[in-house]
Amino acid sequence: MAGRIPQHFIDELIARADIVELIGSRVPLKKSGKEFKACCPFHGEKTPSFHVVPDKQFYHCFGCGVHGTAISFLMEHDHLSFVEAIEDLASRVGLEVPREETPGARQPPPTDALFALLDKTAELYRRELKDSERAKDYFKARGLTGDTAAKFSLGYAPDSWDCVLQQFGASEAERLRLLQVGLVIERERKPGVTPGYYDRFRDRVMFPIRDARGRTIGFGGRVLDQGEPKYLNSPETDLFHKGRELYGLYEARQASRTLTRLLIVEGYMDVVRLHQAGITYAVATLGTATTPEHLSRVFRICNELIFCFDGDRAGRAAAWRALENSLSQVREGRQLRFLFLPDGHDPDSLVGAEGHEAFEARVAQAVPLSEYFISHLQSQVDMNTVDGRARFGELAKPLLERIPAGIYRELLGDEIAKVVRLDPQRLAAALKTGGPATSSGSERKPAPPPARKPAAVGRRNLVRQAVQLLVHYPGIADKVGDLAALKELDRPGISLIVQLVEELHDQPCDKTAVLLERWRDRPDLEHLAKLARLPLYIPDQAGATKELLGALEQLQEEAAVRRREELLSKHGRDGLSEAEKAELQALLRVPAARTAPVPRT
Ligand code: GTP
Ligand code: MN
Repeated sequence: MAGRIPQHFIDELIARADIVELIGSRVPLKKSGKEFKACCPFHGEKTPSFHVVPDKQFYHCFGCGVHGTAISFLMEHDHLSFVEAIEDLASRVGLEVPREETPGARQPPPTDALFALLDKTAELYRRELKDSERAKDYFKARGLTGDTAAKFSLGYAPDSWDCVLQQFGASEAERLRLLQVGLVIERERKPGVTPGYYDRFRDRVMFPIRDARGRTIGFGGRVLDQGEPKYLNSPETDLFHKGRELYGLYEARQASRTLTRLLIVEGYMDVVRLHQAGITYAVATLGTATTPEHLSRVFRICNELIFCFDGDRAGRAAAWRALENSLSQVREGRQLRFLFLPDGHDPDSLVGAEGHEAFEARVAQAVPLSEYFISHLQSQVDMNTVDGRARFGELAKPLLERIPAGIYRELLGDEIAKVVRLDPQRLAAALKTGGPATSSGSERKPAPPPARKPAAVGRRNLVRQAVQLLVHYPGIADKVGDLAALKELDRPGISLIVQLVEELHDQPCDKTAVLLERWRDRPDLEHLAKLARLPLYIPDQAGATKELLGALEQLQEEAAVRRREELLSKHGRDGLSEAEKAELQALLRVPAARTAPVPRT
């Protein structure tokens, strides 16, 4: 494996890539003003709401909400990995992908050795299974065939404190590696006890967990009889992240090159048994709730997802949690459904009892997210009273707000309005979640720009406006001066403004897509991307600069006023230090606005 790809190269690649040509070679684009339009390749539609914006090297769909850069497009559309997408783009513009030379880059990086160690251990457990009648009998008793065991590389960790240690822990360096991948545990250091390690997995049947490329990244191990804990998983390591991985995904992709749907179940045995029964699109979370990250991975592979839960109370609770965690990933073109099994059954036992066909029939009957959403909330309130229906609206609103703006949210909102039977106008107003993004209709036909009166803009909007200006015109950060006073202001979003400005000072760029690419793995990415696709009615850099400096000036003014009040009240309460007095005098003397950032020249 090679070193990291330097950020400056990714910047340059995004700036040079021709996103219109890239997307145009896959989707027929029509020019429309300064942009290009098409029917969205990510969801079915008849009228084009997919826009490509050459100025920003950015695409977005007002229908389903997909958006991103040339790199994202290749990842989403062509299912490439991040690195593959970069390599593809680089070869289009005739560039070689450089790698950062790290000291010792000549040897393979340490992760290669870790993957190899995990693979060797899976192999070891597999051999141990062949030698253990007890473990083989266990799997047989659970109805598994040898073929299935081979497909999933099932194994057995013998009843020993040092099986893995003996095989792969000859030197201290090797033992540390075993520790790093979670295969051994370090003995508590106590006087009188020889320091050392022992095997984590002992006397358990083993389920290797593989990443998308089939490399072993961790294990789940089950006791053969009674015993606690029933399942033991590898700990989180550099290679293994429970919130991201799905058990069985590699095997599902092996079984079918063209996956159209995935079924998410709860357990290892469920996955293995379902695959054996021919339901090879089953995967499981690893003892955790489904995360948005799981879903965004799944939706990169296919656009239909079915959650499957046991019919008991715990299953229902888990289902609702899954729904809540899914909302940020819901959009037009993605299908999310919920399958509840009869009480007392899990997929393993049910497919054993009923067989493939009956189970498929149940999958076909799974309830769409919208239906489950509404019926669950209905069960929480008395729908026969106006109060109850109003309460329904209150419960629905914050959930609805988690769904990205777009047609899906609109439709679900409309459906709720029908169910609630309140004055639709009023309910719609109450359910609208603010901002032009709620209505795709209004985005396609933008209202005329509002008369600009900066003072009338809400304070919260100032922060958002500043961020939006920086996202649309990253080049203007250059004109922003010192932000020291602003940093004092304790309010959501300020730190993002400061971060954007400071990073753009260090490494200027003038393309939206370049900036978004730099934020790829950071938590604010979605927020920035959303602001990037909201319309900004300011046609040029000069106007944007004026707006930005104006917004920052007002925010700095607010910071100064706050600080002044704070000092005044401290003055009355317990007195001020000399430095504080000087600060207060300065604040009282100078009109607050003068503390605003001086434009850089
Ligand atoms: P079987 O009893 O083998 O059929 O397993 P199951 O999948 O039916 O078990 P259950 O419904 O109890 O658990 C579902 C999943 O939750 C398992 O596959 C594990 O991922 C996880 N799990 C269950 N028990 C434990 C436990 O004791 N510890 C941990 N860490 N995870 C568990
Ligand atoms: Mn089970």
